[in-house]
Amino acid sequence: MKRLMLALMTVGLLFTGIAHSNDAQFERGIGGVESLRGASELETTRPADDFKRYPRDQGVIDSDYVYQPPLIPHTIRNYEVSLNANKCLSCHSWKNAKEMGATKISVTHYETREGQVLSDVSPRRYFCQQCHVPQADAKPLVGNTFERVDALRDSVE
Ligand code: HEC
Ligand code: HEC
Repeated sequence: MKRLMLALMTVGLLFTGIAHSNDAQFERGIGGVESLRGASELETTRPADDFKRYPRDQGVIDSDYVYQPPLIPHTIRNYEVSLNANKCLSCHSWKNAKEMGATKISVTHYETREGQVLSDVSPRRYFCQQCHVPQADAKPLVGNTFERVDALRDSVE
């Protein structure tokens, strides 16, 4: 009897052992799933993607839909936008735009959610990059069939 129990226990231990090592493997790996970061395992540090190139001398790319925040036609590397400073406004605010030769932010940037017009940039328009991104010839992360709205399409297209 004792022997039988011992044998059973050993077999039991063996099984839990196998189950365990399988679990661990599963937790550590990505289960063969490929995502936007590719198929690299969680524990490997893959090299960072290259910086996107922002061509210098191209104009602002046309909008694709009405009321689209225009793309940024210049580099914004190291431009601080924080509680203490807003680099964008040093050129784009109504006060500085003329002198800097930049487009001034439109009046919508002074409006609150309730439509009240403030004398300074509205808090909801303070963090420019929330809506404006630098224009780059970037490959879409996922495919899509988006087409420019009719009103903004060239007649020759
Ligand atoms: C040193 C001045 C300067 C700074 C700082 C700057 N810009 Fe500009 N920006 C310009 C000028 C000048 C243009 C006009 C196009 C050109 O010559 O590149 C422009 C164009 C733009 C446009 C296109 C506007 C249009 O005519 O449709 C957007 C959007 C824009 N900038 C957003 C930003 C944002 C967001 C930041 C901060 C992250 C920023 N800019 C910082 C000078 C500046
Ligand atoms: C909540 C989204 C949002 C944020 C935040 C925002 N913008 Fe805009 N911006 C827009 C939209 C939408 C337009 C186009 C329609 C309009 O003028 O309101 C625009 C237009 C502009 C234009 C072109 C104006 C013109 O007359 O052609 C400039 C320049 C600009 N934004 C700069 C900025 C800067 C600088 C900041 C940060 C201080 C900023 N924006 C923050 C959405 C935003």
